[in-house]
Amino acid sequence: VIRPAELIQRKRDGEELDGEQIAELVLGYSRGEVPDYQLAAFCMAVYFQGLSSAETFALTDAMVRSGETIDLGAELGRRVVDKHSTGGVGDKTTLAVGPIVAACGVPFGKMSGRGLGHTGGTLDKLESIPGFRVELSTDEFVSQVRDVGLAIVGQTADLVPADKKLYALRDVTATVENVSLIAASIMSKKIAAGAEAIVLDVKVGDGAFMKTLADARVLAETMLALGERAGRKVVCVLTDMDQPLGRAVGNALEVREAVATVRGEGPPDLAELVLDASAHLLALSDLGVDRTEARRRAEQAVADGSALAAYERWVRAQGGEPDESALPKAPFVQEVFAPQGGHVQRLAALPVGTAALHLGAGRTEKDAPIDHAVGVVCLKKRGDAVDEGEPLAEIHARDEQSANEAAVAFGAAYELGDDPPRARPIILDTLG
Ligand code: URA
Repeated sequence: VIRPAELIQRKRDGEELDGEQIAELVLGYSRGEVPDYQLAAFCMAVYFQGLSSAETFALTDAMVRSGETIDLGAELGRRVVDKHSTGGVGDKTTLAVGPIVAACGVPFGKMSGRGLGHTGGTLDKLESIPGFRVELSTDEFVSQVRDVGLAIVGQTADLVPADKKLYALRDVTATVENVSLIAASIMSKKIAAGAEAIVLDVKVGDGAFMKTLADARVLAETMLALGERAGRKVVCVLTDMDQPLGRAVGNALEVREAVATVRGEGPPDLAELVLDASAHLLALSDLGVDRTEARRRAEQAVADGSALAAYERWVRAQGGEPDESALPKAPFVQEVFAPQGGHVQRLAALPVGTAALHLGAGRTEKDAPIDHAVGVVCLKKRGDAVDEGEPLAEIHARDEQSANEAAVAFGAAYELGDDPPRARPIILDTLG
């Protein structure tokens, strides 16, 4: 047996480790036999030296093997679908895609995460719905996908425990932003949770972990290769995260916007991404339809109200109250006004996410409680015309002081100028 210190040293010096050595480290860490400080040093060595494809496969395999795996296809006799985002600001896509896909008769089963840094998490958004239970057992998860056609839950304790530990460690050791570590983290969870067809939304830009299209493409290709090797059908969409997705940022505000999108009344960028992802999932499913027919069915489910009915059925099945009037509202709403007229040149996602975080929509400490009612609504987005003194955004706060602080942060998020900027589409590329 080679000691962890020796493996760390080899990686530090740029050598390639074999699959067994990687498994030894990761499984040893998961069992509590290798300490945090050695894995932290290993992750930093990986951050600087990178991992080969063979090493990334081995890491992903070891993470999957650290816990239980679910075979949804065998349990249901259907091809279950799933989607995942690499994380962004205002990303409530899953909350609308799930009901649309389920309404089209395709089972959707997903394990989601909580917010990380300035990015939001689907579980936190769902918990703004009164009564909603995100912690289902594996058996409850499988039966709900079977009976209701849709379940979105937290990662159960037994599923990829190595990722739970490793993710928390990376979050506090500046080792999140490595392609191999992100790809292994996401794909180990997707592989273990059992869906056979997966759409991965790789965010690119200011508010994403991948800041450039080139880096995002490498991440997408790495995840595609991991999915293919595990026998899953995977499509990656590279999407814009230079500005927040949609208008709402903050948990209950985002649930409202997702429901509006399910009803066909969502903001255009969000609605396009939701329909695109839904169409990919339907085309990868066992319905046997092509992309054009898949898109038509997704649009139909929105137009005829069946997607909204699927949303209500799903929320009730997980103990929640689907009526929007039950969602919490912030007591204090303040508008931010345009200091000049013209066009929005830029609305930077990172300061918007950070403002929402400081209002209480996210955590600055592990396991801290969050305020589901607070957040921001970006009334104007990139390219929109604006008059001097017109409202740019609404701040939903617990009190006046936190609203004032968030208003200052907004000054940095909006860049106004005379001419409209060059249009940038929401979907930048599709791979796989
Ligand atoms: N999301 C994950 O699940 N893992 C990462 O490493 C980054 C984003």
